[in-house]
Amino acid sequence: MTTQSHYQQAIVFAAEKHTEQGQTIPGTGLPYVVHLSNVAMEILMAAPHTPDFRLDFAVQVALLHDTLEDTSATPEEISRRFGMDVAQGVLALTKNEVLPKTEKMPDSLKRIRALSPEVWAVKLADRITNLQKPPSHWDHAKIAEYSRESIQILQELKGGNAYLEKRLEEKINEYKTHFV
Ligand code: NI
Repeated sequence: MTTQSHYQQAIVFAAEKHTEQGQTIPGTGLPYVVHLSNVAMEILMAAPHTPDFRLDFAVQVALLHDTLEDTSATPEEISRRFGMDVAQGVLALTKNEVLPKTEKMPDSLKRIRALSPEVWAVKLADRITNLQKPPSHWDHAKIAEYSRESIQILQELKGGNAYLEKRLEEKINEYKTHFV
């Protein structure tokens, strides 16, 4: 199966699931699938610069990365349709909701680090995509906290994907202009 078919299969599944929730990108009103395709776009751009990159796997994890956190999809369902590796990747990218707020990101990063560099790459791509102009209702402290968390992601996933690390570093520097 081609990369295009892998992409198509995953984006249709994810779009259906997120649409079922009526989910939009916070602060924009855009359909959530725009976020997902942007994350997959970062993965596609990084692939030619990344040796031994399993692109078909990474693209599917990218498109499905929020389905367990935000929709009715289950790990079993994802495993059945896309394979156990993909389900495991998406699970690592899913916050454990029972943990206190401050522990959710470190816990997820720890589980991501235990998996392959393609899963690290999706986390980097996700944060690159999310570092846009902050929503107007965010205060200074919230913006500074988001910046701090982004630096933590970059540090914890060092060595996972040189191309995306550089992209994230640039986006973090750009983001600083919103609160300095
Ligand atoms: Ni995301």
